[in-house]
Amino acid sequence: VTEGSVFITGVSSGIGHALADHALGLGYRVYGTSRRRPERLLGHENFRFAPIDLLELDRIGERLAAFLEPSGCRHFDFAFLNAGSFGAKPARGERVTLDAFTDLFKLNLFANKAIIDHFVMHRYSIDNYVVSSSIAAVRQREGMLAYAASKAALNAMISVYALENRESFFALLGLCNVDTHVGRTITDVDASFPDLFALKQRARQSGYVVSPGERARHIFDVMRHRADLDLKSGTFTEIRTLLLARHATRTA
Ligand SMILES: NC(=O)c1ccc[n+]([C@@H]2O[C@H](COP(=O)([O-])OP(=O)(O)OC[C@H]3O[C@@H](n4cnc5c(N)ncnc54)[C@H](OP(=O)(O)O)[C@@H]3O)[C@@H](O)[C@H]2O)c1
Repeated sequence: VTEGSVFITGVSSGIGHALADHALGLGYRVYGTSRRRPERLLGHENFRFAPIDLLELDRIGERLAAFLEPSGCRHFDFAFLNAGSFGAKPARGERVTLDAFTDLFKLNLFANKAIIDHFVMHRYSIDNYVVSSSIAAVRQREGMLAYAASKAALNAMISVYALENRESFFALLGLCNVDTHVGRTITDVDASFPDLFALKQRARQSGYVVSPGERARHIFDVMRHRADLDLKSGTFTEIRTLLLARHATRTA
């Protein structure tokens, strides 16, 4: 039974790929984008894919229109604004070139603006935007200049869109320690970055880092229970906090 429709950016790997997999398992029709082709998902009858490079900001609107309009799909239960990057491995701020800094803002911030604007201006009905943010947005660490700044700006931007578009719910989630390319890049450090190095040590403890599949399941679980969890639209919340609250209600 097809439950509804879901839009996901960054379906070629990591959390986005796992979200697509999980949504297909729940019976959703999934519209996914990324640059690389998610070969394993392509054979699924409810999966549609468009190769969209989100760094080509000027083309995002036309590419989304070409992808979605022929399908006739005007309503998404979930739009996962997930694609993102850390950039190269952690480095001191002055070592991050302006070009690299700009590219990270294009992908982590501007591309999401282009997508939301397309959906709002073309009157798509979106029940829930689910935005892949990070604790780096609010708790800064050495070596994370471009990532931290782009995710902080993402949080501010999503909070404003949430106020202006109250017919949609904007879940702004810190996704915390997932075993993906982004997760591994953040901990690709030596002791010259003490906070990230300590994180790298913690990440070796069993259970500290979760698989993308587990995180996808967590995300759908907290979204299903967002009212009980008192999750607020447009307010940054770490998924770990929500999972602890879920655990508390289950064991109460
Ligand atoms: N892993 C963690 O611990 C963690 C924690 C907090 C937040 N997050 C956030 O979670 C999100 C997903 O990251 P991940 O951890 O799953 O890492 P990942 O495996 O590297 O996934 C990143 C996804 O973004 C896509 N992407 C990158 N550049 C793109 C571009 N120019 N155009 C279109 N798509 C592009 C990639 O696809 P292509 O390369 O094929 O284009 C890929 O599918 C990111 O926003 C990240 O900041 C992750």
